[in-house]
Amino acid sequence: MAINGRKMITITSGKGGVGKSSIASNMAYLLGNRNKSTYILDADLSLGNIDIMFGMVPKFNVRDVIDGSRQIGEVILEGPCGIKIIPATSGVSELSLLSQDERAILLGSLNALPEHDFLIVDTSAGISSNVVYFNAMSEDIFIVVTPDPASVADSYAMVKVLSTTTGRKDFNIIVNMVKEEKEALELFRRIVGVTDRFLDVYLNYFGYLPLDRHINIATRKQRLWVERFPDAIATRALAKICDRLVS
Ligand SMILES: Nc1ncnc2c1ncn2[C@@H]1O[C@H](COP(=O)(O)OP(=O)(O)OP(=O)(O)O)[C@@H](O)[C@H]1O
Ligand SMILES: [Mg+2]
Repeated sequence: MAINGRKMITITSGKGGVGKSSIASNMAYLLGNRNKSTYILDADLSLGNIDIMFGMVPKFNVRDVIDGSRQIGEVILEGPCGIKIIPATSGVSELSLLSQDERAILLGSLNALPEHDFLIVDTSAGISSNVVYFNAMSEDIFIVVTPDPASVADSYAMVKVLSTTTGRKDFNIIVNMVKEEKEALELFRRIVGVTDRFLDVYLNYFGYLPLDRHINIATRKQRLWVERFPDAIATRALAKICDRLVS
């Protein structure tokens, strides 16, 4: 769903630790750098860390909006390139599942955001009801998958659950942590081989990111790798993904 005609996309995955937050935050930077007004919502409500990626310490977070104690405008942090960051709580796992009413409040707040081009939603891993909810609302779903066999199996499970619960048929795949694009394409074909046999869905290969040590170096310093290493292979690969996103 596009909120007021603006593009909401989710970055999601079956297995954790595959690079969702890293992709979401660096993608936001590249889009901001192209003068696309971009919001990023940390929808990992129990262990959110988008603010950490940007090296920021939020005073308030999306939980304060859901509780009604803050307006969404009071929670938003200003990142580089004009990116607007909506941070999540961290480490408060009992707060992670939203009730129907809470979802309605959050959706109302997102609807009330000023005009923008993109709202990137970084979800938590797996198929909790929150994750299904955010994916059901988004216009385009991006599933991040790595060569780890558990990631491949969990991606299949993710597509299966999302297609049956939301009726969605189209899913974009970003392959992360591969040596080269050939490996990404092989992995993508393997997943399609299974989904084509068992599910009525269409998977779209959207791009890949190489395993790149620059990502770890920058992340450890709470810096965005696309900003710190503009010429790194991973930066160029993510720029290609953003080209497709804006075209
Ligand atoms: N292409 C890559 N090359 C090297 N390291 C990477 C790459 N992509 C991500 N990483 C590293 O992998 C780790 C996990 O990334 P990230 O936190 O973005 O994953 P996640 O999917 O958001 O995890 P979670 O499911 O816990 O939210 C981080 O340390 C990140 O720097
Ligand atoms: Mg994450």
